[in-house]
Amino acid sequence: MTERKSIHGLWSGRLAFILAATGSAVGLGNIWKFPYITGENGGGAFVLFYLLCIAMIGIPIMMAEVMLGRRGRQNPIATMQTLSLEEGASSNWKWLGVMGVITGMMILSYYSVIAGWALSYFFEATTGVFNGITAKESADHFGSLVGSWDTLLGWHTMFMGLTLYVVSKGVRGGLEKAVTVLMPALFILLLVMVGYAMQTDSFQKGLSFLFTPDFSKLTKESALIAMGHAFFTLSLGMGAIMAYGAYLPKNVSIAGAGISIALADTAVALLAGMAIFPIVFANGLEPSSGPGLIFTTLPIAFGQMPYGNIFASIFFLLLIFAAWSSAISLIEPAIAWLVEKTGVTRLRATALMGGATWLLGIGSILSFNVWSDATFIDKTFFDWMDYLTSNIMLPLGGLLIAVFAGWLMRKKSSQEELGLSGVLYGIWSFLVKYVAIIGVLIVMLKVSGAMDWAINLVSNG
Ligand code: PFF
Repeated sequence: MTERKSIHGLWSGRLAFILAATGSAVGLGNIWKFPYITGENGGGAFVLFYLLCIAMIGIPIMMAEVMLGRRGRQNPIATMQTLSLEEGASSNWKWLGVMGVITGMMILSYYSVIAGWALSYFFEATTGVFNGITAKESADHFGSLVGSWDTLLGWHTMFMGLTLYVVSKGVRGGLEKAVTVLMPALFILLLVMVGYAMQTDSFQKGLSFLFTPDFSKLTKESALIAMGHAFFTLSLGMGAIMAYGAYLPKNVSIAGAGISIALADTAVALLAGMAIFPIVFANGLEPSSGPGLIFTTLPIAFGQMPYGNIFASIFFLLLIFAAWSSAISLIEPAIAWLVEKTGVTRLRATALMGGATWLLGIGSILSFNVWSDATFIDKTFFDWMDYLTSNIMLPLGGLLIAVFAGWLMRKKSSQEELGLSGVLYGIWSFLVKYVAIIGVLIVMLKVSGAMDWAINLVSNG
């Protein structure tokens, strides 16, 4: 096959791709979301199931996504269209790309609101407001931030501005530079935080909450959340990694890159958990307190440390950067698509797609204050955005990617693109064709109740 070229340029090499994809993967998902959903879902068993999903479903699907992206060399919609033609499949596969573009914008709309909290905390940390803060004061502080919709709107607008600025510069100019320094710095700072947590007398308790599984706490719903989070945290199922794969030079090993990215991402999430839960227990806080968890617990720890305001400032700054490099990848598929489809400039495409995303974010802002009582089946607008995207759209996208890569693509094509043969190819292919697909289906069907219904039907019939 003659190789296609991406009109957006290529990464400078293997490391640049790994850093950019790690930048996409490591974000609020690891440091904000992983601890709070782990806290809400009972700890150890949830974490174990999440790790299982990363290894058995996440890594093989990540390889599939990078592979499709690099073979298609276009935005996810056009890539799916081109590849389906080439592999003799229906051109309706382009809808998988469309769903990805929409999912990315939906996620970014609330992601930016949360990143806005980090912005606010960063500026406050530099002024030393967390010095000596008590647990109650910290909770009140967080409450007053999220209670004020106009403050949130300001930060959300600022974060969207930062994101759109980098995206408008294009892939090589903007994305690549930012992540090279920030990822390693974040890692080091997390180690410092874990070092602090080790000195609290609740370190053991924190660790056993995270790593001692109690399977009676793993409900169907928790399993779905753990699986959804495996997709969310690795940026899978919506074409972000596919879009990045489109800029990957031909000679780079997809398996090696995929495994490195997943390991780095998992390490960051576990470190974040190890830093946060000891602080939660040391201060008698509730692990299940929800989306505010890190924003109410970490300031207490910073407030007690020597030079705490410096550490707090660096921490929130790095969190902002981690969120930033993820946010870029959430909207890149939408922008690459609009540019390729209509030929508008990157700047204009950014303004359009970014504007729509910003607007949608206002719904999430309001769900923390004005609309906090406006729930539908017990969920606010923000809850629904998160639930639909993480627990339904990403796993569904991932499932379809696995079906395409595992069943519809010819073996020759996938072998050639992955550069794998023999046993290694066999393992990947088995995981994608069976384990990932059946795994996602079981979890989704169990939660929807469809599985029990079918089992009943068979056993009664
Ligand atoms: N992986 C990011 C995180 O963990 O914060 C979020 C994300 C980025 C999800 C890109 C999906 C995506 F396509």
